[in-house]
Amino acid sequence: MKTILLKNRPKGRPTVSDFEFIESEAPSEIKEGEMLLETAYVSVDPYLRGKMNDVKSYTPPFELNKPIHSGIVAKVVASKHADYKPGDYLAGMLDWKTQQVSNGEGLIKVDETKAPLSAYLGILGMTGLTAYLGLTEIGKPKKGETLVVSGAAGAVGSVVGQIGKILGLKVIGIAGSDEKVDLLKSKFGFDEGINYNTTDDMTAAIKKAAPEGVDIYFDNVGGPISDAVLFNINQFARLIICGAISVYNNTELPKSISVQPFLVRNSALMQGFIVFNYHEKYPEALKQLSAWLAEGKLTYSETIVEGFENIPQAFIDLFDGKNKGKMVVKI
Ligand SMILES: NC(=O)c1ccc[n+]([C@@H]2O[C@H](COP(=O)([O-])OP(=O)(O)OC[C@H]3O[C@@H](n4cnc5c(N)ncnc54)[C@H](OP(=O)(O)O)[C@@H]3O)[C@@H](O)[C@H]2O)c1
Repeated sequence: MKTILLKNRPKGRPTVSDFEFIESEAPSEIKEGEMLLETAYVSVDPYLRGKMNDVKSYTPPFELNKPIHSGIVAKVVASKHADYKPGDYLAGMLDWKTQQVSNGEGLIKVDETKAPLSAYLGILGMTGLTAYLGLTEIGKPKKGETLVVSGAAGAVGSVVGQIGKILGLKVIGIAGSDEKVDLLKSKFGFDEGINYNTTDDMTAAIKKAAPEGVDIYFDNVGGPISDAVLFNINQFARLIICGAISVYNNTELPKSISVQPFLVRNSALMQGFIVFNYHEKYPEALKQLSAWLAEGKLTYSETIVEGFENIPQAFIDLFDGKNKGKMVVKI
């Protein structure tokens, strides 16, 4: 079996040499209450970059020379666990290993007849929950309002925009290529899209797309894109700070404009969002996401990379925007 360890704490942008692959004997025995799992799909996510730094955050950092872990869907291949049998699929936080022993703690059973297995890492997993709970709990959307979403063609952003449309908002997405901007409008139903890589004046572009001003900003990227949104916010705007991928690889503190005058002038709310703080709302949120999926009101995109050996590169590719929708590795 294969395992991927964190070899170095990346300096700036991660490289494949920051990871180490090791081969070892597969576990031959399981104890009472345990299962042997075989990895089927691995989620790679921008937040993993923060856990590669030796800094305190909402979860502890990865340890050097220990396996990385992330959201994984795995198949039960042998079981001495009362609740699970061979052939079942489970999802949860697991190590980047092709096989591993688990006692089932923190894992949930997923049903491949209801949705493709990879969807439990995206729209029916952490990123879908983030989109729904971030937008509804902090954004508190009201019909007719204007929502701007950055990182709009990614896993979280593409779902945020669609939920915005379901809830009766005008939705403007910001993404990194013309192809992604087309996807926002053609597949996900956004009203407007802006390619930040070909737009010199983002403040003016947002003003043009939202002449009535911005009531809700769902921020996945931080940096200059988010600064430009601030110039366009309305009175009582809500700014949901979900992520800041544009600065995750910075080695120095980024230079940013001062947000306070914008917030004071507009009586605006800016709040950091961490999905794990809303775990008691997961069942209700998943019920709603599943219902919208079944009704055809929600859809999703995935970029599926094949092969355990490609997990580190798939992770690094997030920082080059190589994914549309959720980036997942199929083993
Ligand atoms: N707070 C929470 O609980 C929580 C939970 C899940 C995710 N998040 C955060 O939400 C954000 C989106 O996560 P995700 O899983 O949905 O990832 P994602 O959006 O599917 O993938 C990352 C995307 O970020 C964009 N990007 C990369 N570098 C950029 C830059 N310098 N400036 C602007 N955009 C850049 C790329 O798209 P382009 O081609 O458009 O540049 C890329 O496709 C991340 O910041 C993540 O950390 C937070």
